[in-house]
Amino acid sequence: MIAGYAVPDFVSDFWHYYIAAITILGILFSLWILNSQTTQKLAPGEQAELMHHAWDGDLQEFNNPLPRWWMWLFYGLIFFSIAYLILYPGVGKFAGVWNWSSADAYKAEKDRVDAEFNKVFQPFMGQDLMAVAADPKAKEMGQHLFLTYCSQCHGSSGQGGKGFPDLTDASWLFGGTPDDIKASIAGGRVGEMPGGLAGDEQSAREIANYVLSLGGKQHDAAMAAAGQAKYAACAGCHGENGKGMAAAGFPDLTDDAWQYGGSVDAITESIVKGRKGGMPAQLEALGEAKVHLLTAYVWGLGGGVKPAPVMEPAPVAEAVPAEAAPAAPAAAQ
Ligand code: HEC
Ligand code: HEC
Repeated sequence: MIAGYAVPDFVSDFWHYYIAAITILGILFSLWILNSQTTQKLAPGEQAELMHHAWDGDLQEFNNPLPRWWMWLFYGLIFFSIAYLILYPGVGKFAGVWNWSSADAYKAEKDRVDAEFNKVFQPFMGQDLMAVAADPKAKEMGQHLFLTYCSQCHGSSGQGGKGFPDLTDASWLFGGTPDDIKASIAGGRVGEMPGGLAGDEQSAREIANYVLSLGGKQHDAAMAAAGQAKYAACAGCHGENGKGMAAAGFPDLTDDAWQYGGSVDAITESIVKGRKGGMPAQLEALGEAKVHLLTAYVWGLGGGVKPAPVMEPAPVAEAVPAEAAPAAPAAAQ
């Protein structure tokens, strides 16, 4: 909501005035008609007008005003609607003096539920992720969360499908330590490989065979030999040995975990068309507590990697200057 202003549904002011006029005139009309029908007084001794129709033989109707209680009920309703429209939005785009909006109400409700939720999960928040992963209660809750928020892409068992990585195996695109997994879930991930790196499809097919040879899988030896030199176009990202680079999301091409398929055809297609996978960031929508539980759940699905023991002070990380970091991949230039 823009401060003091209801979400503008109208592209011009016309509809604002149009709807406001209908609303206000409708109320004024109700007041007028109610007034006209209830103020008519009878002189003492005068009979109300007899309407000229009869039912069931002799059942007749007098034109009496509404009973008082009924009239006041109507007036009450009209004044209620006026008070309501002053306080809440309803007259065109006037936001109401209370500035209420359904978006704010939703947010307040969500915050309240999240606060409840966080109370239940607070004990886990302070715990190490591997301890959480070992807790059967946390696991059960993690599973519920996974089924709600993740299964549409990763499958209810977490085994993924074409284009969606398997989260239960030891092969990770972006790393399998608790921190890596948490970063994948909280911040999302985008892995992208440009298409057309290999030239024509024949070259791509040769490289595909060479890739299979790197993994010790069945391949056509002559094709692989022809593809070896052309694999240079890939090594910047997937490494000379095809093992990839988890820190950067460059997949290992030598294992059996294929996101898009490991047949010659599927690999050729990956090379020719390129691949792009997007994992949506979850932190904002789910909050810290749910992300924490989900991380533990995913880590515990079978492929979780134990974090390296922390060394203090971390000498390796300090010693490597930024320039010595792995060169940017060829395609990024
Ligand atoms: C809209 C589909 C979609 C949803 C929903 C989704 N993911 Fe993902 N997720 C992906 C894709 C696609 C990737 C791989 C990204 C890539 O190809 O670079 C991925 C990657 C990941 C990774 C990294 C895997 C690896 O090998 O490093 C983790 C962990 C993960 N998702 C967990 C989750 C969890 C937990 C949820 C539920 C909160 C979730 N995902 C919801 C599509 C989705
Ligand atoms: C710029 C870096 C980069 C280069 C160069 C590159 N790739 Fe990739 N490749 C990636 C990324 C990133 C992915 C994962 C895409 C995703 O996450 O959806 C990928 C995915 C793949 C896949 C799919 C893996 C699977 O699990 O299904 C294959 C096969 C592949 N690359 C082969 C190659 C070959 C062969 C070459 C050389 C012709 C090559 N790549 C060049 C970055 C690169």
